[in-house]
Formats: sequence, C-alpha cells, structure tokens
Amino acid sequence: MKNVTQVLSDEHQTILKVIDVVLEKCDQMEKSGEYDAGFFEKVIQFIKSYADGFHHAKEEDILFKAMLENMDHMHCNPIPVMLHEHDAGREYVKGMEEAMQSGNSKGLIENARGYCYLLQSHIEKEDNILYPMAEQALDDLQKEEVEKLYSSVNKGDFLKEDIQGLIFP
Ligand SMILES: [Fe+2]
Ligand SMILES: [Fe+2]
Repeated sequence: MKNVTQVLSDEHQTILKVIDVVLEKCDQMEKSGEYDAGFFEKVIQFIKSYADGFHHAKEEDILFKAMLENMDHMHCNPIPVMLHEHDAGREYVKGMEEAMQSGNSKGLIENARGYCYLLQSHIEKEDNILYPMAEQALDDLQKEEVEKLYSSVNKGDFLKEDIQGLIFP
C-alpha cells in the first residue's frame, strides 16, 4: 500500500522543532524582559510560508479533499475540527503581528504560546488519528493522485537553511 501521510508527518517534525525553540524563547523573554523582534519576524515568516502556506495547503487543498470524497470509508469526520484549528492558528499569528506592531511583548508571548500549544495538540491528533484514517480510506489510485498534487504545491520562500537557522541559531 502506498503511503501519502508520512511526508506530512515528517513536516510536522520540522514544525515541532521550531515550536520548541519558540517556547524556549518565550520563557527567556519573560525572564529577561528582552524583546527579540528579529527572531519573531523569522518565526512568522516560517509559519506563513512553511507551516501554513506549504504544509496546511497540502492538507486542506489535497489530502482533506480526497478524504471527504471517501467519507463512506470513515467512521467519523474530523476534518471540520482540523480546519477550525488551522484558522485558530492564523488568528494567533495575526495576534503576534499586532502585538509586534505595538511593541507589546506580553501580547506577543501570549499569542506565540497559544499558537505553539494549539499546533502541538493539532499535530498529535493528525499523526495519531487523522492520518491513519486517511491511509485506510484512500485506495492506491487515489493516493497516486494525491502524491501528484502534492508536488504541485509551492514550497514557499522559506528555505531549508532558514529553518536550520531558526532551529540552530
Ligand atoms: Fe493540520
Ligand atoms: Fe499537519
């Protein structure tokens, strides 16, 4: 059987690594009172370009759509919850941007942490519930189609080196 979710789980690992660094940075910022705008600008760029623009786009536009076409092979429909969480993540990013514009470091920390905790639990649900459901619901032909469509999604302008720079500053 073909597998079309391992690649997404691998992307989760990259997102989780960045999240760990962000949470650490929030703790540091709270303790020292130092405000590292450059770091958070890079984080927002990473989220918009990679986590949302690349990874969530593959889920929303390709995998979730394919799953919805196979609803009769699924015992429930967790996709609306997943979409809602993607939207909630975008709200946190907006909150981070607004806090940065007004130099509100407390608001920035709050929204950044909100995003991180949301994504950690979201990723856990996808890795353990949603993706196994997708693997069961789609047949090999549909998986081939999904794979083809994946390759058409733009990788975004956030390069691998940029991600490395965030994880290993
Ligand atoms: Fe997702
Ligand atoms: Fe995901």
